[in-house]
Amino acid sequence: MNQVATTYEPSTINLYMQQAFRPISRRYFYSDYVNSLPVKPTDKILEFGSGIGVMAELLARRLYLGQLTCVDISKRYISRAKRNLRDYPNTTFVRGQLTKLNFSTRGFDAINLHYVLHDVPEASRQELIDEMYGLLRPGGKVFLREPLNESHGIPSANTDVLFASAGFVKESGNERRGRFMRDNYSACYIKAKNIRFFFI
Ligand SMILES: C[S@@+](CC[C@H](N)C(=O)[O-])C[C@H]1O[C@@H](n2cnc3c(N)ncnc32)[C@H](O)[C@@H]1O
Repeated sequence: MNQVATTYEPSTINLYMQQAFRPISRRYFYSDYVNSLPVKPTDKILEFGSGIGVMAELLARRLYLGQLTCVDISKRYISRAKRNLRDYPNTTFVRGQLTKLNFSTRGFDAINLHYVLHDVPEASRQELIDEMYGLLRPGGKVFLREPLNESHGIPSANTDVLFASAGFVKESGNERRGRFMRDNYSACYIKAKNIRFFFI
């Protein structure tokens, strides 16, 4: 029996509900957030944990001269996302865990991580963020939003420490008390460009 596949797959009803609520979540939970991200139309972006692709679709629209790569551990999520984004030729889909993919493409301009890190087992989080650092070009950014609640979330200070340990510099971080969404933390971390000192 394939343990990984069964553990991470959503139930049919869960998938159906997410698909049915797609227009509402797009409008009320994702749209403003995606529009606020500092993304250029030519950017090459990796979305990690893309689910059924609600945010991916909004990002793909903004990257009309760029490229979006979606990674998810779930076969059902990836196949649903592929169908939801079939009209966007600038998207590619990869099933698997980021740390085990051996990506040949590096030098991403940004990585988007939306409500994913809290779902990754604590013991694997640092390895995952270290891998993200390697996948970004110098000056590349991680955009993150994660829930803060104790039962199913991650404290903002823990997130900051994980990214700092990987070598990222924090550009911004805001805790928000959600009206529609649960309390959440949105942050941007940068892979700093090398600083060179010239001695005369
Ligand atoms: C709560 S959903 C969020 C989906 C999407 N980012 C959104 O905001 O709508 C978490 C997603 O992360 C994926 N995921 C969790 N752990 C993962 C891992 N280790 N590798 C790849 N994907 C993972 C899940 O399969 C799921 O699609």
